[in-house]
Amino acid sequence: MTTARQRAIDFYQSLVPGEALPGEATEQYKDIDELVYLLSRVPTFTPRPIRIIAAGAGFSGISIARAVHVGNIPNATITVYEKNIREGGTWFENRYPGCACDIPAPNYQFSWAPNPHWSSYYATQGEIRDYIHAVTDQHGLRPYIKPAHKVTHARWIADREVWQITICKTDGRDLVISSAGVAEGESDTTFVEECEVFVNCCGFFNNWRWPDVQGREKFAGRLLHSAAWPEDADNDLDGKTVALIGNGSSGVQILPAIINRVKKVYVHVKSRTWVTAAIAQRFAGPNGSNLYYTEEQKAAWAADPKAHLEYRRMIESEINNRFSLYIDHTPSQKAAREFSVDDMTTKLRNGGKEDLLSALLPDFAVGCRRPTPGNGYLEASCHPNCEVIWGKVEGLTEDGVQTADRMTSNVDTIICATGFDLSCAPRFPIVGMDGINLRDEWLRNPAAYLSVTAANMPNYFTFMGPSSPLGHGSLVTSIEMVTKYVSAFIHKLQTQNYSNCVPKSHIPAAYQKQALAWLERTVWASNCTSTYKNGDERGALNSLHPGSRIHYFELLSTPRWEDFEWTSLCKGDDLTFAWMATGFTDRERNPKEDTNLTYVTNLALRM
Ligand SMILES: Cc1cc2nc3c(=O)[nH]c(=O)nc-3n(C[C@H](O)[C@H](O)[C@H](O)COP(=O)(O)OP(=O)(O)OC[C@H]3O[C@@H](n4cnc5c(N)ncnc54)[C@H](O)[C@@H]3O)c2cc1C
Ligand SMILES: NC(=O)c1ccc[n+]([C@@H]2O[C@H](COP(=O)([O-])OP(=O)(O)OC[C@H]3O[C@@H](n4cnc5c(N)ncnc54)[C@H](OP(=O)(O)O)[C@@H]3O)[C@@H](O)[C@H]2O)c1
Repeated sequence: MTTARQRAIDFYQSLVPGEALPGEATEQYKDIDELVYLLSRVPTFTPRPIRIIAAGAGFSGISIARAVHVGNIPNATITVYEKNIREGGTWFENRYPGCACDIPAPNYQFSWAPNPHWSSYYATQGEIRDYIHAVTDQHGLRPYIKPAHKVTHARWIADREVWQITICKTDGRDLVISSAGVAEGESDTTFVEECEVFVNCCGFFNNWRWPDVQGREKFAGRLLHSAAWPEDADNDLDGKTVALIGNGSSGVQILPAIINRVKKVYVHVKSRTWVTAAIAQRFAGPNGSNLYYTEEQKAAWAADPKAHLEYRRMIESEINNRFSLYIDHTPSQKAAREFSVDDMTTKLRNGGKEDLLSALLPDFAVGCRRPTPGNGYLEASCHPNCEVIWGKVEGLTEDGVQTADRMTSNVDTIICATGFDLSCAPRFPIVGMDGINLRDEWLRNPAAYLSVTAANMPNYFTFMGPSSPLGHGSLVTSIEMVTKYVSAFIHKLQTQNYSNCVPKSHIPAAYQKQALAWLERTVWASNCTSTYKNGDERGALNSLHPGSRIHYFELLSTPRWEDFEWTSLCKGDDLTFAWMATGFTDRERNPKEDTNLTYVTNLALRM
């Protein structure tokens, strides 16, 4: 690519070739600045072409591709590179038994692709994966996605104002690990592409980790991780002796799903945890169990989208209204605690294992660790096939698991439901202004602005980065809101004569300060180890948004442009308003059939 300014000149010249007719240009500019003179001949708000590259085709990558496809970012091209063989992200990668969404499916979907056909209230992994595949096809998004291509490096080239992205073809395997420095599955075919805007959609639950234990290589049986589940893993479960490490959201789903298949399961539990009510359980089945929709119900919603929308509204409203649960010492926190104590006690007592209660009941607030609805978890813990072993797993032996005071043997299979690295740092180098590498910066301190932008990274946007509303509600709707926010930035670049934008250098750090200070009043700050603190009880709450989801949405819908440096394509302050161009808007000059050019009939303009 040439320089940003030259690219703009070439574009406007292509729109108005030849000499200007009298009255067609602002003649004062003729001998001052070639770009301004050309601009003065084109309609105001004409979007300059923009090239976008995105990494990752989960919900986020698909969402931004769709924004381009439907013209919400007009005159843009996008390629979404995806390391796996198919799109889907989390829901393509996590295939462990029992994997499901704990947000009700009617609320865990794109608002622009509502699905009245979910089979149940809480959808399984397979059904969400199929939904994503179907949306990709039905909405014409597949041409934008290049599977089996892993982004390995990104560098901002300051003099031309482009991102240079290095992409490595994979060997076509199903799942490619995204941990930093791991090159498994990468081929020798590497190429470089340039773009004006780089969007990181690589996901935060992507860098899965083995437990930090000794002797992992000694174990002679099958070692599995919940987030990298091989297709043939079932052979190593049925009738086998299994050790399950971890009681986070994944472990809690796995246990009930395997309990009747295995000969024996040792469940290794290091921390106490709340097993809570299901999310929006008011509308679920009895006692928060899953609710399976009848064919009649699905047909009724398919025939009546308004009724379906009302159902979705009701569920989301219930979830949004529950946010005060996450503020410590509130009545809803107290009620959640009482409910969980009661529920856990009843279940363990009914299962004849009330003794587990004293070890399992936490002293920290409900929600400090991600709430684990755990349908069937406590019941499975009471099953005769199950033995709960307390304490950190210290090491693995040839045929068992070692804790401080227990060593098991004859274990055929170990399932590590030990989660992900949530340091928030990108997993490949992203080198912005002045050679600053975002990976190094964020390994030290992940300071993002509204989870989307970062200091020294011009024209760089990330989905669900540090300070995102990870802890509350459906992330799909948050991803949609981020898509709108990012689209607004790109559109401003395209239409107001800017080549790049970057948050002012103090903004992400100031934002992080506010976030961490506010988060102290939440239950997330109480004394638990959690994903949100990257597995460290005293870890900083860098991953979370300082407020409710609605708070986040409203902040995103009114972007504070003043928090950013905008670089104009025209040098000199007196050319700041060059973008006002011909004085007629693009809508006026290029009206579409439905363009409304009057004030009195335009409800969007009227007070
Ligand atoms: C087991 C599990 C259950 C969950 N349940 C819920 C839930 O109930 N509710 C909820 O709101 N959220 C849930 N989440 C969070 C979930 O991750 C998000 O809701 C959402 O799927 C994130 O979408 P994403 O596109 O941002 O990221 P992802 O889905 O992680 O997608 C990222 C994509 O980027 C690709 N990628 C990564 N690195 C590269 C690279 N270098 N080059 C190219 N491609 C790359 C990956 O292969 C992947 O396809 C769950 C997460 C897990 C792990
Ligand atoms: N919606 C859903 O239904 C769903 C399902 C799965 C995952 N998720 C998402 O994915 C995130 C990650 O969940 P996850 O369960 O995969 O990971 P996680 O919440 O980080 O849990 C990892 C578990 O492994 C344990 N562990 C790690 N090392 C250990 C050791 N050496 N010995 C014993 N135990 C050890 C941890 O114990 P400590 O906590 O004591 O460190 C913890 O219980 C969740 O927060 C959630 O957002 C959601």
